[in-house]
Amino acid sequence: IFNQVVLAPADPILGLTDAFKADPRADKVNLGVGIYKDESGQTPILKSVKLAEQKLLETETSKSYLGIDGVIAYNQAVQGLLFGTDHAVMSEKRAVTAQAPGGTGSLRMAAEFVVRNTASRTVWVSNLTWANHNNIFQSAGLTVKQYGYYDAASHDIDFDAMLTSLEQANSGDLLLLHGCCHNPTGIDLNICQWEVIAQLCVDKGLIPLFDFAYQGFGAGVEEDAQGLRLVASKVPELLVANSFSKNFGLYNERIGAVTLVAEDEETAKRAFSQIKSTIRSSYSNPPAHGALIVATILGDAELRKLWEEELTQMRERIAEMRVLFVKTLSEQGVEQDFSFISAQNGMFSFSGLNKDQVARLKEEFGVYIVGSGRISVAGMTRANMDTICRAIAQVL
Ligand code: LMR
Repeated sequence: IFNQVVLAPADPILGLTDAFKADPRADKVNLGVGIYKDESGQTPILKSVKLAEQKLLETETSKSYLGIDGVIAYNQAVQGLLFGTDHAVMSEKRAVTAQAPGGTGSLRMAAEFVVRNTASRTVWVSNLTWANHNNIFQSAGLTVKQYGYYDAASHDIDFDAMLTSLEQANSGDLLLLHGCCHNPTGIDLNICQWEVIAQLCVDKGLIPLFDFAYQGFGAGVEEDAQGLRLVASKVPELLVANSFSKNFGLYNERIGAVTLVAEDEETAKRAFSQIKSTIRSSYSNPPAHGALIVATILGDAELRKLWEEELTQMRERIAEMRVLFVKTLSEQGVEQDFSFISAQNGMFSFSGLNKDQVARLKEEFGVYIVGSGRISVAGMTRANMDTICRAIAQVL
């Protein structure tokens, strides 16, 4: 029976990491997957994380199962980061949160919850989006439709196109929104556009589903939550899938959460019972370590301060790399204007390089970027910048 199974295509992002590892060239550079590298090219464990782990080593007394929804203190801390402390959804107890494995696991649980418990079967995603969104939603039984978002000519949002596409959306459809640091374009809605989208969701009865994986990588922890908080103040029901892979550097701990906001506390509680039921039949209950680290850091004023400082350093280093990237391209003789890259948010830069150019970068120069032309600026350093820019100048 198994000999009928066909080979799956390589994943456009993680498959690239496999190809990179197998590449024997010494000067190869991986700018594919979104993983932060420091100036020395390492992906460090944050000091705040190490200190929290030390604390856990001394105080943890059991490895017994967590509840289906995970670490309770963690779930409360997640809500604090998402909504702030004085948001109405918190005081009205309309938000419920379950720990889940990373952003992917959180999105999948959110989507499965919707399919199992509502009549919604459609999710709208931006016309460029994270490659895994389609897989996750289709696997959960949703139909994926696209709304206009990125305008390649202006390197900006085509907001009119977004609104025009969403005229076709029906009540109950999910609307996937990137909370900040849009992946792959790095271009986010401004606050006026968030207002319009919030009103559109109210008028059309759409359910916003936030993918919030980069909080703190745009302008700051609070600043990056503005869109979500605004939408949550206007729209009665929404879902959030968040991840701490990037902002705590906890990639391999697979730590995220699914949060549901309902129109009242009683509905939220009922919905939560179904989220837990979805989790129970998927992976029973989550692993503890990542959640305990995050809860320890966010529950301790000093560790939290240290974490915010470390996050700021990561954000600022990436911003410096953006500027250096644009400058070095020009020094390498690239005449095309790449200044738009400095204005993009988060780990990624959407370069506009085409598939052939991306393939040449990989094959001829050992510079790996995602097929869509997405470059992980978080993987650039002063040491590899010349190699990267020389290669790009050649393929252009
Ligand atoms: C990325 O977009 O590179 C990250 O979110 C990692 C992943 O799982 O694709």
